[in-house]
Amino acid sequence: MVALKVAVVGMRGIGTQHAKCHHADPLAELVAVCDVVRSRADKVAEELGVTAYGSLREVLEAHPDLDVVDVCTGGFENGGWHFEPAVEALEAGKHVLVEKPISNDLGEARELVRLAAERGRYLGCNLNHYFTEPAREARALLDGGRIGEPVYCLHRMGFCGGEETYAPGGGPNFDGFPHAHLKAFLAHPFSLMRHFCGDITHVQAFLDRPGVRRKAADLMLSVASIHVRFASGAVGYLFSSRGDVTMGLGGWWSFEMGGTRGTFCIENCVEKLTYFPAPAQGQSFGLGQQPAPEVRDTGVTDFGATFPVRIHAFLEDVSNQVPLHRLRASGRDALATLEYTFAAIESCERGGELVRPHPLPTLKRDVRDQDGAGPS
Ligand SMILES: NC(=O)c1ccc[n+]([C@@H]2O[C@H](COP(=O)([O-])OP(=O)(O)OC[C@H]3O[C@@H](n4cnc5c(N)ncnc54)[C@H](O)[C@@H]3O)[C@@H](O)[C@H]2O)c1
Repeated sequence: MVALKVAVVGMRGIGTQHAKCHHADPLAELVAVCDVVRSRADKVAEELGVTAYGSLREVLEAHPDLDVVDVCTGGFENGGWHFEPAVEALEAGKHVLVEKPISNDLGEARELVRLAAERGRYLGCNLNHYFTEPAREARALLDGGRIGEPVYCLHRMGFCGGEETYAPGGGPNFDGFPHAHLKAFLAHPFSLMRHFCGDITHVQAFLDRPGVRRKAADLMLSVASIHVRFASGAVGYLFSSRGDVTMGLGGWWSFEMGGTRGTFCIENCVEKLTYFPAPAQGQSFGLGQQPAPEVRDTGVTDFGATFPVRIHAFLEDVSNQVPLHRLRASGRDALATLEYTFAAIESCERGGELVRPHPLPTLKRDVRDQDGAGPS
């Protein structure tokens, strides 16, 4: 298979990590890195033996045969600078992988998804949290009928912390933006909930900040308590915080989903999957007893392991020319998480009222869908 020619835009922490993933991946040929602060691109280019540029325009001019542009630009609320380079790349006919959140602005996110569909280009998002061994095995349990009809999910995700470690000022991307944590972070937990339980149709939220932030006049709503209903009829709960509390069982990242045939729980994102079967026919258990769980420790503790796996999946999908609607962790999937985030903000602003997220754009059949199983 011919390697895809890739350029990465935005060369700080995350862009550098992406560049290294492409460099090490046989499906990619990293040809360029770029940053408006040229020295950042120079440093990575020197290390990886590729060419550095100061703008995406220069990259596109120098490499007209580029296949993929990977956008890691961040910006306000960690998503304010994604739109411009992503549009530029799509308009130049390139496939795009964009970091999360797809944007901090709903209008921009919707436009990116529309533009990619109009141009017939792949638009993926780095929703890397379900590119893990526990999530893959949990998906197999679900697809294999071992969960049954979904009933509930409980998800907790947030940075470990407390009042003693709180430091005012979250940096220029966060300072003065009350919704920055929600927009920058909830893409991850919402993407998990949707990956396992499907589309969310109803959202109710309470969003707040603890006293330590109030005292420091820190406006950021860092604690999110969100109750949802899925199109399937299942219900779900999400708790997220930005370093205000230290989570209990399951650590910084736990996901539990229960159905009529069994329940699974993932702990610490990459570390552990436990399956709790429902009692089989004829079995009966006293209060407090249940069938023995199946426990699987992966031995993996490094969250960074999600990056090469997710990036490889994108390269694989593009190389295999999968139908557009079958792209894993697509721009449309990322748009869903932003729609839910904005619905949560609206619910909170209306005192916890129920909000129905804006519907996603309809999926179109793709000529690449050989088996005809695509949406009609
Ligand atoms: N998926 C994950 O697990 C994960 C984890 C952390 C951060 N992120 C995301 O990664 C992204 C980047 O994070 P970061 O901490 O590296 O960001 P950063 O703000 O530290 O760096 C962004 C870089 O992009 C450059 N840049 C901005 N606009 C540009 C443009 N138009 N052309 C060229 N360069 C441009 C800036 O000069 C800067 O060097 C964010 O969107 C963040 O939300 C994802």
